[in-house]
Amino acid sequence: MFKIQTLNKISEKGLGLLPGESYSISEDGTNPDGIILRSYKMHDMEIPASVKVVARAGAGVNNIPLDRCTEQGIVVFNAPGANANSVKELVIGAMLTTARDFAGGVAWTKTIAGEEDVAKVVEKNKSNFAGGEIKGKKLGVIGLGAIGVQVANACSALGMEVYGYDPYLTLKAAWNISSSIHQADNLDKMLKVCDYVTVHVPLNDGTKGIINAENMKLMKKNAVILNFARGGIIDDQAAVDAVAAGQIAKYVTDFPNNTVIGKDNVICVPHLGASTDEAEENCAEMVSQQLKDFLETGNIVNS
Ligand code: MLT
Repeated sequence: MFKIQTLNKISEKGLGLLPGESYSISEDGTNPDGIILRSYKMHDMEIPASVKVVARAGAGVNNIPLDRCTEQGIVVFNAPGANANSVKELVIGAMLTTARDFAGGVAWTKTIAGEEDVAKVVEKNKSNFAGGEIKGKKLGVIGLGAIGVQVANACSALGMEVYGYDPYLTLKAAWNISSSIHQADNLDKMLKVCDYVTVHVPLNDGTKGIINAENMKLMKKNAVILNFARGGIIDDQAAVDAVAAGQIAKYVTDFPNNTVIGKDNVICVPHLGASTDEAEENCAEMVSQQLKDFLETGNIVNS
């Protein structure tokens, strides 16, 4: 009987794949064979010697101390692509809502509650919230992994002119890229022409601050930057300053902190990219299958 410890609430439907007769959930965390987690930060945690495998029910693994896992001989899995559709949908929603000033319109409409002739007030003021279409606009996607490819293809289908930048593009991802996506080999050149730029790379030494004060200067004044990947990939302070100075139009981030919260034209959401029932189920299902395979047979399949 293998014992699994869950460090976050994990979709029960997904975990249901763990066969009851061979697995149990270690409620008190004693001697688990495997750990499943979402965003719990394991860096300060002592990992019990019994643990053979750690599985992240999500894409990013920056909440797991990979060096320590390697030292302890622990295999680490993630769930590549399992939440890609949910993230893609939120990115597209964010682009559309910034293009049409949805947030501004919603906030203003609340202020006219109780007006005698609401329709008249609306007609008088609605031009303040007029927007534009995303069709025909240029989108730059940084990172063409599972999520970036889905965003690129969907936005191309919506009529955007899409550029993809990824110096580490894998063959598997390349097969899935629509032929209408232009591959950019120079980040600065891509930033110069894009109306929207979205990042879909993991946070590491090579991607930290990939969009920063220097290259933001190259961007168009109407440009919108979106970060639904990880805090730190965009230099938040530089983005706040660039928006305030009118160097770019808007910054949307799924990773709020005190640098970005409450700033005009900086739109923050509370790490909602993968917060859907479907993504949670898909991730739990993928990692519990990986755990099962590994603990039963020693096979390592991370997909
Ligand atoms: C991911 O890494 O999969 C997403 O950011 C969602 C999450 O952290 O749960």
